[in-house]
Amino acid sequence: MSNRPARPLVLVSAASRHGATLEIAQAVGDELRRRGLAVEVVPAESVGALDRYDAVVLGSAVYFGHWLEPALGLVKSQAAWLAEHPVWLFSSGPLGPPDHLLPEDDPADVAALIEQTGALAHRVFAGKLDRSQLKLREKAIVSALHAPEGDFRDWSAVTAFATEIAEQQQRPDLDSNQGPTP
Ligand SMILES: Cc1cc2nc3c(=O)[nH]c(=O)nc-3n(C[C@H](O)[C@H](O)[C@H](O)COP(=O)(O)O)c2cc1C
Repeated sequence: MSNRPARPLVLVSAASRHGATLEIAQAVGDELRRRGLAVEVVPAESVGALDRYDAVVLGSAVYFGHWLEPALGLVKSQAAWLAEHPVWLFSSGPLGPPDHLLPEDDPADVAALIEQTGALAHRVFAGKLDRSQLKLREKAIVSALHAPEGDFRDWSAVTAFATEIAEQQQRPDLDSNQGPTP
């Protein structure tokens, strides 16, 4: 007999330095729950064994073009498990209005992360910059780069991503991240 709950249990995790990306993870989790999935939202640095979960949504804030170490470390340490289960990835960082988000490129790690995890999708969400939360060094850098300050997170895009995940996760033919059977 399995101890698993009847509903699939999805881990939604994110690495976040100032909290904005963790709030995106929470919003994804809320929408998945609303759509009938069992969800745990856990910061990337606090994730333990993955055996209890059926699927993983993992994200990271982007700093200097890269994911943060707790999310990279999670992929590295759990690569075998992730490669055999449904995985969705997201990055959050670009700042500015929707038609002028900076930077425009995907984070440097993303292609390798998709390859390692066999992720079904990767999405980039706009981020949030609140100078009052930054350390002195970060403040100097964002000033030098003229990074726009504000909360640019697009909650409808986040919810739409979660909706896609719920639909894919609830498909009976999707039991691994190898994609649906023909
Ligand atoms: C010092 C610094 C460097 C950053 N570098 C990038 C970057 O290279 N690419 C990007 O998309 N966003 C970058 N950002 C924006 C952050 O990713 C964005 O503020 C994000 O929402 C922060 O999320 P967090 O609150 O979860 O840490 C940078 C922000 C700071 C303060």
